[in-house]
Amino acid sequence: MKHFTAPSDVPSVPELVQKALDVKRNPRRYAQLGNNKTLGLFFFNPSLRTRLSTQKAAQNLGMSVMMMNFNKEGWQLETEAGVIMDGGKAEHVKEAAAVVGQYCDVIGLRTFAKLENAAEDYKETFIQQFKQHAGVPIISLESEIRHPLQSLTDLLTIEDYRIRKNHTQKPKVVLTWAPHVKALPQAVPNSFVEWTKHMDYDLTITHPQGAELSTEFTEGVNIEYDQNKALQEADFVYVKNWSSFANYGKVIEAPDWTITAEKMALTNQAYLMHCLPVRRNLVIADEVLDGSQSIVIEQAGNRETAAQAILQEILLHLNAGESLSDLSESLII
Ligand code: CP
Repeated sequence: MKHFTAPSDVPSVPELVQKALDVKRNPRRYAQLGNNKTLGLFFFNPSLRTRLSTQKAAQNLGMSVMMMNFNKEGWQLETEAGVIMDGGKAEHVKEAAAVVGQYCDVIGLRTFAKLENAAEDYKETFIQQFKQHAGVPIISLESEIRHPLQSLTDLLTIEDYRIRKNHTQKPKVVLTWAPHVKALPQAVPNSFVEWTKHMDYDLTITHPQGAELSTEFTEGVNIEYDQNKALQEADFVYVKNWSSFANYGKVIEAPDWTITAEKMALTNQAYLMHCLPVRRNLVIADEVLDGSQSIVIEQAGNRETAAQAILQEILLHLNAGESLSDLSESLII
């Protein structure tokens, strides 16, 4: 695997999930793999889980880690080609990405949707520009429209629970919208759907009318506008707010969509998942979040495993490339 930004970068999603499960069972297998390699983690917005779990994962593999809050500590970056840079943006992403690539063997990049213009956000400009100009593998730590490390974590969590609970039947997985006071991006639900499509799951998305995700992600997936109906017989309930795609970035008002104990009672004693951070008693009621069906903390713990699995795959790819170039150099000599 060269980059990690979407399922299309991965030869097989089920095999990658299996590799992540192997990392969880045997986390020290490749403790030296990243020796003398540097991971740069660059953030354009706040993060708790992504930042700490990816740093820990890199350290588990012997890597050095550099971290920077680009939006607060770096120069403002221009992304347009051919512009006269006479405004507030001091550096072009072409140089910034290329320079960072001089210091790092692998780059993790976290950007965030502006939620002003769907066409702009859906270009994933920073990820694409870094892929083009950095010259080293790029890991998406969340883009404007995708959160692949979160999604790998989510699939790993579901598979881990299925194994531990001896759950052999095809699971019913429900992604449910829940209320929020702010306009949030569609990255987590988009990615969850995009990755889950590669698994043998019975997936249903439920949300109020007007909260449809982009059909680029939801095509072929069952959508149910009645939340209570969708939750019936669910084995896993993934809760997340997102803002409108059609009426881009607008907050959707539907207060009765909060996940309560009453709603969870409709399920097949489903496990409750959320990527966190979560607003209590707005998105999910206290009694559910603190209840025995909630697996959100273990899910967050699995972020470290998923990040380690991805770094391992990338380092194995890098090391294989280095061995080949050593071999060709010795042949030339
Ligand atoms: N789930 C997630 O990405 O959390 P952070 O925003 O804290 O990194």
